[in-house]
Amino acid sequence: MRAFISILLKLQQILYTQGFGTRRECTALIERGAVSIAGEIARRPDAEFVTDGLQFAVNGEPWSFVERAYIMLNKSAGYECSQAPKHWPSVYELLPMPLRTRPTKSSVNGVQAVGRLDQDTTGLLLLSDDGQFIHRMASPKNHVNKVYEVTTKHPVDAAAVQALLTGVLLNDDPEPVAAAACERVSDTHLRLTLSEGKYHQVKRMLAAVGNRVEALHRSQFGGLKLDPALALGQWRWLTADDLAAISNSLQVL
Ligand code: URA
Repeated sequence: MRAFISILLKLQQILYTQGFGTRRECTALIERGAVSIAGEIARRPDAEFVTDGLQFAVNGEPWSFVERAYIMLNKSAGYECSQAPKHWPSVYELLPMPLRTRPTKSSVNGVQAVGRLDQDTTGLLLLSDDGQFIHRMASPKNHVNKVYEVTTKHPVDAAAVQALLTGVLLNDDPEPVAAAACERVSDTHLRLTLSEGKYHQVKRMLAAVGNRVEALHRSQFGGLKLDPALALGQWRWLTADDLAAISNSLQVL
């Protein structure tokens, strides 16, 4: 993760880096009085501001300058984690326009999800435009634990919990896949911790023990828990404490 850098930037460039449109569109926004800083309309595209901690508003909507975007989203069901979704709306539609149109940085094409959740899975999804961060969080080598709250169709018995912990065979995988932890919260509620992110992994593991996932919610990513104040479909910036909680959970083997 990068340190937050304090630099002076022209207002036009500030809006551009934050995703408010092309350089020309950003200039136009400023010149027509749509941008204010500390309650004052800022009309000069070339006026310079210290970016660290800068708050401004565009068409009355407040925005905080961030050098890199690190975001927690409480994903709703019915959204695909893809920029080019096939059957459901894109999860990026849950983000405001500037986050969808942030320019490409160091080869990262704007804000991207860290891994994917199925369209019917809810809960914690991280997004960023920091390529190193995305890679570190998503790389299978780093074994970042993810915690899932699983509602099952049938009651789960002790033998199934043991099988999930010991390892189950998924149809197209030669090696068994084991949960890092598995807690039976109630008859039909499992708290399952996985350190990999194979395709439909939770659903396939539950199918392997003769059960079926009725609902799936990710409650934790590494050391970071989903903020309970975030309603489904809402997002917020990650704080420095959140970023530290995620980084501390990296177990590089
Ligand atoms: N496992 C699944 O089956 N689906 C998800 O969305 C995440 C993990």
